[in-house]
Amino acid sequence: MTTFHEKDVGVLISEEAVQARVKELGAQITRDYEGKELTLICVLKGSAFFAIDLARAIDLPLTLEFLGVSSYHGGTESTGEVRITTDVSKPMAGKHLLVIEDIIDTGLTMSFLLENLRARHPASVKICSLLEKPARAKTKVEIDYKGFVIEDKFVVGYGLDYGEKYRNLPFIGIWKHV
Ligand code: PRP
Ligand code: MN
Ligand code: MG
Repeated sequence: MTTFHEKDVGVLISEEAVQARVKELGAQITRDYEGKELTLICVLKGSAFFAIDLARAIDLPLTLEFLGVSSYHGGTESTGEVRITTDVSKPMAGKHLLVIEDIIDTGLTMSFLLENLRARHPASVKICSLLEKPARAKTKVEIDYKGFVIEDKFVVGYGLDYGEKYRNLPFIGIWKHV
């Protein structure tokens, strides 16, 4: 168990609870995409840990793609300006896309991603987010597969960062100093 964080971070959702929910989502996705060519889009960097655990919980021959976007630029507030920092490696036309996120907060990142991906003419686009923070939503995003709904606290861990740190915590934590 990691301990470097203890002065700054409290546990919100334990490692066990996160892993149990990931397995449930994986089973649900397996049922829903049976017989389809599924492409998981891991939105870097935040969803990396979740996407990789989720991929292992899905019992289908899927493709994994990585798409890098950034809007927070290291702080605790979204700038609203979303940029693609790394694009996917293959054409998305005709593919069943499942966009994997760690959190949907204002919704601005996902709105941008949906618009961008739909322009590439995929067969379908659905959303899977481990966390949703509805209190801060600036645009409505329908989440097809949702892990947990959380209150308006700044969270870190399991991919979520504060100034690029704390992504490697195995649980969802609350940053104690904001
Ligand atoms: C975070 C998070 C989501 C997005 C959610 O990413 O991982 O991608 O912000 O916020 P929103 O709903 O308000 O747009 P960030 O921009 O911090 O980049 P990172 O994933 O590399 O940490
Ligand atoms: Mn992110
Ligand atoms: Mg971030």
